[in-house]
Amino acid sequence: MRTQVGIVGAGPAGLLLSHLLARQGIESVVLEARSREYVQQRVRAGVLEHPTVELLREVGLGARMDAEGLPHAGVSLRFEDADHRIDFAALTGRGIVVYGQQEVVKDLIAARLADGGDLRFEVSDLALDGVTDDPVISYTRNGQREELHCDVIAGCDGFHGVSRGAFSGETFDRKYPFAWLGILAEAAPIQDELVYANHANGFALYSMRSPEVTRLYLQVPPDTDAGTWSDARIWDELRLRLGTEINEGSLIEKSVTGMRSNVREPMRHGKLFLAGDAAHIVPPTGAKGMNLAIADVRILADALESYLRKGDETGIDGYSDTCLRRVWRAEHFSWWMTSMLHNFPDEDAFQRRIQLSQLRYTVSSTAAATSLAENYVGLPHGAI
Ligand code: FAD
Ligand code: DHB
Repeated sequence: MRTQVGIVGAGPAGLLLSHLLARQGIESVVLEARSREYVQQRVRAGVLEHPTVELLREVGLGARMDAEGLPHAGVSLRFEDADHRIDFAALTGRGIVVYGQQEVVKDLIAARLADGGDLRFEVSDLALDGVTDDPVISYTRNGQREELHCDVIAGCDGFHGVSRGAFSGETFDRKYPFAWLGILAEAAPIQDELVYANHANGFALYSMRSPEVTRLYLQVPPDTDAGTWSDARIWDELRLRLGTEINEGSLIEKSVTGMRSNVREPMRHGKLFLAGDAAHIVPPTGAKGMNLAIADVRILADALESYLRKGDETGIDGYSDTCLRRVWRAEHFSWWMTSMLHNFPDEDAFQRRIQLSQLRYTVSSTAAATSLAENYVGLPHGAI
């Protein structure tokens, strides 16, 4: 079997790449280890930055997002027992949309299937060969070994996939001495916008998914077992750190996420292109992961179209450097938000005062607040 672009991974990166390529008349096959049901239910990101929202609309994926997503014009930073609103609309003229990653994934899968797209779920033992000249992806499906010959491979298989290990490169890495315990609860949000709280007991985040569902996070020690946190303890700790009443409800999901910054350079080796979490991850503070994955594949789709249709290699040659400029901006922003908002276990009094000074400056200076706002709502694609 042969295709133009073999895509490994049906997360936001792989699925959107397949959609963008199809719009330009380029064939692709998406290979995914998990089932369709699993990827559609996997609870992860929730914030779409402005350029992501615009792109999804532009490529025919905006209908349900516009009907069900929650547009927000700001967020609050909470510290020293007070909330301080950062007004994105006033500072940048733009905003964000709160719409779950699994909803984006559902919309993408529906669009690809309606268009005759070739998505293969539940493949195993996937291996990449010949990535410098004649790429082949082999994998097992329904008990049979299959081979997919491709012009190029897009490695969109996340941080634990096979693509990032298929070639050597340079890795930049930071681990943080804490994790996030995230819950999704059947409870009406009482706040209209997100609240990022810096508290002596640790960071907390108030978010939501719909008028009926609240999404909340607590800083916890790394390697925490989510089962050791009872529901009652979670609600008490959230109320304390967020300094507000919260509607309680039954938990739909409870899990712990590690925090890490990691970049793999370069993002291309021969005919293998990495995109999204396969190439880089950010700590979740600032909500950049999925948005970066989407920015990568927008560039990749255009580069592959010029290459596969016209033999023009300019775009594919520039792919890695072009993406890495935005990647490092988001790496800095996520590291900065993480550093400003969390309680570092080894923090001394000097660091604590520096952190508080940064928070006070960010909410009181228009220049500093604008810097947070323009990064949060997302710099226009191609601006950096
Ligand atoms: P993934 O979504 O990881 O998709 C990779 C796919 O490849 C998966 O479906 C996987 O099953 C498949 N795969 C892996 N290995 C193989 C293999 N060997 N063979 C075949 N398939 C394979 N980002 C934001 O922008 N905003 C947020 O608000 C935000 N909040 C977050 C909150 C949490 C708790 C977490 C965990 C993440 C958050 N993120 C956020 C990050 C975001 O979820 C990721 O950056 C995003 O999923 C990256 O998309 P991707 O398509 O690159 O990778
Ligand atoms: C959400 C996740 C984030 O990492 C973030 O910074 C904001 C919101 C969320 O899941 O809603």
